[in-house]
Amino acid sequence: MKRKVTKAIFPVAGLGTRFLPATKSIPKEIMTLVDRPLIQYAIDEARAAGIKEFIFVTSRGKSALEDYFDCAPELESSLRKSGKDELLEMLRSTNMDSGAIAYLRQHKALGLGHAVWCARRMIGNEPFAVILPDDVIAAEKPCLQQMLEAYQETGGCMVAAMEVPPEKASSYGVLDVKDDMGAMVSVKGMVEKPTAGTAPSNLAVIGRYILTPKVLQNLNRMKGGAGGEIQLTDAIAEEIAAERPVYGYRFRGQRFDCGSKAGFLQATVAFGLGREDLREEFGAYLRDMMSVQKAAE
Ligand code: UTP
Repeated sequence: MKRKVTKAIFPVAGLGTRFLPATKSIPKEIMTLVDRPLIQYAIDEARAAGIKEFIFVTSRGKSALEDYFDCAPELESSLRKSGKDELLEMLRSTNMDSGAIAYLRQHKALGLGHAVWCARRMIGNEPFAVILPDDVIAAEKPCLQQMLEAYQETGGCMVAAMEVPPEKASSYGVLDVKDDMGAMVSVKGMVEKPTAGTAPSNLAVIGRYILTPKVLQNLNRMKGGAGGEIQLTDAIAEEIAAERPVYGYRFRGQRFDCGSKAGFLQATVAFGLGREDLREEFGAYLRDMMSVQKAAE
């Protein structure tokens, strides 16, 4: 049986404190890698995976995000008049069909689990995807598409998983692996931000999920977990406790943590070098920088 997943939640209500002062007035998701905001990468990945309904959980001060997906009639007519068809075409990828996009508010930043729960009425009784736009994944086949293909075989809940060095595990949700089947692992437990030395594996959860509506029911009962926040990881772990299947999927691709400054800079370099129109000039600059640095050492 084909399992259809056509709805995705984009939780974008976090405070983005690691990027202050920029995030005082600019949503983190509008920050750009080269010339595209983070949110555009997330939307493109969702579209490629067949997502038709895009649900944004936002908060105060995120109106730039809503504007980004609107038509811009003045700009478009000016581009049309001056024959800038390529730019017009590029703008088209930022437009959404009427009714395909919905925004709702998380009134307090009570955690990722709470943000997802805020969208429960829009999800209803279907499986759904969750995409965290600050995890940007460069991959030949978009990560969510890889996961949805694997999900056709498994059903249940599935999280994107990535190997991390032991000293980094305490920054992530970590999987306790039951069976390792290669790309896929079945999971017997999940711990959010384990204290140093207690992580059950080196497989960390990153920002792509396929979830059943049962997870939303689990969130109904949730109180604060690690760091006092309502954790999505805890609600998924409840599925395991109820003996319903949860899988980790080792995606093929490179993930950049664009919620952190170092990750954002790394992504900027990687995506800059990935662009044909910039590669030569930008690559030469980086090489110069490296040789200056080496000489200084
Ligand atoms: P982060 O842990 O990166 O938090 O959230 P943050 O607030 O965005 O950033 P920092 O740590 O203060 O710099 C991961 C994802 O969960 C969303 C965020 O918007 C981000 O996409 N989130 C987090 C919410 O939507 N609501 C919350 O209450 C917390």
